[in-house]
Amino acid sequence: MSDLSVEDQLAAMECPVDHSILDPAIQDAPWDFYAELHEKCPVFPIPQMGAVMVTKYEDVRFVLTNPELFSSGGRGGGGAKKGIQVEKAQRYQAILREKGWGHVETLQRTDPPIHTDYRRRLNRVFTPRRVKVMAEHIDALAAELFDAAKANGECDFVDAFALPLPGMIIAEQLGLDRSDYRRFKSWADSMLALSMRPLSDEELLETVETELEAQHHLAAEFEKRREEPTDDLISALVHSHGDDEEPLTMHELQNLMHQLVTGGFETTTNALNHGMWLLTRYPEVQDEVRADPALIPAFIEEVLRYEGPVQGLGRRTTQDVELSGVTIPKDTMVIVRYGAANRDDEAFENADEFNIHRPDVHQHVAFGLGPHFCVGAALARQELVSGFTAWLEGTSRIELTRPFDGPVHEPSLLLMPVKELPITFELA
Ligand code: HEM
Repeated sequence: MSDLSVEDQLAAMECPVDHSILDPAIQDAPWDFYAELHEKCPVFPIPQMGAVMVTKYEDVRFVLTNPELFSSGGRGGGGAKKGIQVEKAQRYQAILREKGWGHVETLQRTDPPIHTDYRRRLNRVFTPRRVKVMAEHIDALAAELFDAAKANGECDFVDAFALPLPGMIIAEQLGLDRSDYRRFKSWADSMLALSMRPLSDEELLETVETELEAQHHLAAEFEKRREEPTDDLISALVHSHGDDEEPLTMHELQNLMHQLVTGGFETTTNALNHGMWLLTRYPEVQDEVRADPALIPAFIEEVLRYEGPVQGLGRRTTQDVELSGVTIPKDTMVIVRYGAANRDDEAFENADEFNIHRPDVHQHVAFGLGPHFCVGAALARQELVSGFTAWLEGTSRIELTRPFDGPVHEPSLLLMPVKELPITFELA
C-alpha cells in the first residue's frame, strides 16, 4: 500500500488520453472516447474525483461479480469525501432527518450478506408473475398514449410517450393517481438532483422540500397498506417479509422506494427515447422490425447494448486491486462503465455497429450483472416491448422532424437523459 493519497496515486497513473468523461460534449456522445480508452487506457484515472473509470467488458464483469473487492457501500471513497457538493449532501440529509426520514443504506448501497436479505424481499415483490399480470395493462396504456399522440402526425416523443409510460406505471404502483405522473417526475428529479449536478443553495432547499413531499405522501400510503393490503407494489413492499423476518422499518421503506423511483423511471424513459431515435436513424431496421414484430425483443436488447440509459455507476475498492495491468488503490471510487463495456470489440464483433441480429445480443451488461443485477429488468423490458409494439404497429414510417443542431442529452456523468425527440410519422 502506498503512503500517497488516493488522488496523488491516481494523478501519477499513466494515461495518454487527455479528454475526460467530465466534459458534457463527451457525455453526449462518448463512443469514440470509449474506443480510445479500450485501446490506450482501459482503467481511466479521474484524480479530481478520487475515481477511476473501468471500460473493458471483462473488467466490468469482474468488478460487478466481486463485491468483496468492489463495494457498493459507502461509495465515493477518496476525493469524493471532500468538496462543496459533499457539504451540501450533508446539509440535505440533516434537513431530511429533521423533517422526514434521512437516508439509510439499503439494497443498492449494500454488499452481501446484508444485500442478500434486502434482495430476497425485493425479489418477492418483482416476481415474473406480477410483470405478467401487468403486461396487459402496460399494452393498453401504451396503445392509449400512442392514440393521444397520433392526432397531429408529429410530437415530441419524450413528452408524449417516453415520460408518461413509465411515469404512469410507477405512479399507479405507488398509490398516486396516474395523471399525477408529472408531480411524480418532479419527485424523481429531486431525488436524483444532488448526484447529477451542482446545486445552488436555493435549489438545494427546493429539492429537499420536494423530496420531503414525496416522503410524506409515501409514508401515508405505507401506513394505509400496512392496515389494508392491496395489490400494488407499495403494498407488496410493506408485506415483503417472510414469517421469520422483521417487517421493513419506515426508514428502510423510504430508502427502497427512493431506489425504485430513481432507478425505474428515467432509465426506462431513456431506453424508450434511444430506441425511437435509433429507429429514425436506421429506417431499414424500422421496416424490418415492423414487418416482423417477433424481432422487437432482439431490437430492444440491441438498443440497450448500443446506447444503454445507465452508462455508469459507482463502487469503492476495499483493497488495492489490479485490473488490466493497473493497480487501483484501496478506497478509490470505481465508475463501472456498462455503456463502454457494451461497445468493447473484444466482447462484441464490430461493437460500434447497430445490429439486431447479433447472436450474443443478450450478453450485454446494460442491466448490470451479479448480485445487483437490475431488479426491474423484466418490468422495463415489458414496457419497452409494449411501447415499440404500439408505435411500429400504428405507423408505416417514423422520422426525426428536424436534425439535432446541438447536444441530444442533458449533461450527466452517469445517465443519458434525452432533452427532446421531435418525430413526424405516417399512420399505418
Ligand atoms: C431500461 C431500464 C433500466 C435500466 C437500463 C436499468 C439499469 C440498472 C443497472 C445497470 C443496475 C445495476 C446497478 C449496480 O450494478 O449497482 C440496476 C439496478 C437496479 N434497478 Fe434498474 N434499470 C432499469 C429499469 C429499472 C426499473 C423499471 C426498476 C424498478 C421499478 C429498476 C430498479 C432497480 C433497482 C432497485 C436496482 C438495484 C438492485 C440491487 O442493488 O440489487 N430498474 N438497474
